[in-house]
Amino acid sequence: MMILALLLPALLAVRVSAELQVLVPQLPVVALYGMDTTLNCSFSPVTPFNLSDLSIFWQVALTGRSVHAFWDGRDQLVDQGESFANRTSLFQSELGSGNASLLLRKVQIADEGVFSCFVKVQDYNKAALLVQVAAPYSKPEVIHRMDSNLRPGDEVSLTCEAYGGYPEADVMWQDGRGRNLTDNVTTSAVANEQGLYRLYSILRVTVEPNSTYTCRLLNPVLGEEGFASVTITAQNPGFPPVALGVTVGLAVCLLGLLIALAVICHRKIKESEAAEAAEAAKENEEDESKTAMTPLKS
Ligand SMILES: *[C@@H]1O[C@H](CO)[C@@H](O)[C@H](O)[C@H]1NC(C)=O
Ligand SMILES: *[C@@H]1O[C@H](CO)[C@@H](O)[C@H](O)[C@H]1NC(C)=O
Ligand SMILES: *[C@@H]1O[C@H](CO)[C@@H](O)[C@H](O)[C@H]1NC(C)=O
Ligand SMILES: *[C@@H]1O[C@H](CO)[C@@H](O)[C@H](O)[C@H]1NC(C)=O
Ligand SMILES: *[C@@H]1O[C@H](CO)[C@@H](O)[C@H](O)[C@H]1NC(C)=O
Ligand SMILES: *[C@@H]1O[C@H](CO)[C@@H](O)[C@H](O)[C@H]1NC(C)=O
Ligand SMILES: *[C@@H]1O[C@H](CO)[C@@H](O)[C@H](O)[C@H]1NC(C)=O
Repeated sequence: MMILALLLPALLAVRVSAELQVLVPQLPVVALYGMDTTLNCSFSPVTPFNLSDLSIFWQVALTGRSVHAFWDGRDQLVDQGESFANRTSLFQSELGSGNASLLLRKVQIADEGVFSCFVKVQDYNKAALLVQVAAPYSKPEVIHRMDSNLRPGDEVSLTCEAYGGYPEADVMWQDGRGRNLTDNVTTSAVANEQGLYRLYSILRVTVEPNSTYTCRLLNPVLGEEGFASVTITAQNPGFPPVALGVTVGLAVCLLGLLIALAVICHRKIKESEAAEAAEAAKENEEDESKTAMTPLKS
């Protein structure tokens, strides 16, 4: 009873004076991958205070892992989580004015999550903020097998690819008239060691004579990032170019052969005509000599 009677005023005092306000941004803090970011946290002590009475604990809210600690007038990093080593600092000169913000350098994907900022100067309080990491994707590229034998009605696959981004982006396909294509689209994402995504989106379409397809990338945190288009032209039924080439080639060969044959035949005919003429002339001569001789005989 005695102890409780003694403690009660102290407990009440703590309650009453628990007016230390700790403020953090209410909206998620968007931090760009690989860049530095400041996690704002400010506190408003009622009276001026001695720095040696100030304690600050930045923690990962979910795990309680230490991100950065400060007490006894200096940084206390013995218990600091490994992944934060050499990447954190407070703004020492601003502490006295109630600025307990944390500078986090070279933001990683794994940094995404809720951080809590705990401040104690006689009284204590804490507040939590959400860090959302983002990385812009490369410009998307649309890839398709160049097939010169495409006919309207054939089915082709177009692959849209982009990499190095975070978080997973929405991929949209549109046709030449700007209509959304949602059927026959398969999108997948693969994360690399750093947690950055490579996106693949495959659209299967039935080819029309001349159609354009656009792949649009939307990073939900950063907004639209880019698009790429491809135009597919398909030959109308008729002579596909390769077959046409072969046909023309064959035709030329045949013509050449025919001409050669014609020339040869012509020569042969000429020769045989000449031979016949010579023969005839010879026979004529013989006849003439015979006839010439006849009168002598007769
Ligand atoms: C942090 O605080 C400063 C000063 O109050 C302000 O200019 C800045 O926009 C804040 N940053 C965020 C991410 O809230
Ligand atoms: C704390 O100080 C740093 C460095 O001057 C500044 O960038 C940041 O905006 C300050 N934060 C607040 C909440 O005032
Ligand atoms: C702050 O606290 C330390 C240790 O308690 C003391 O030595 C120092 O005089 C104090 N400074 C002020 C300005 O009160
Ligand atoms: C942090 O920096 C110190 C000194 O520069 C270095 O010895 C240590 O390996 C660094 N730690 C990490 C995790 O980079
Ligand atoms: C296409 O889809 C996107 C996202 O779902 C939407 O914002 C847009 O309004 C749609 N456009 C049309 C023309 O339907
Ligand atoms: C989707 O694929 C199916 C079967 O392959 C096909 O019948 C349908 O026309 C395709 N839809 C579109 C919009 O291309
Ligand atoms: C294909 O369509 C585009 C735009 O609709 C047009 O500029 C182009 O001339 C067309 N090409 C053919 C071969 O029809």
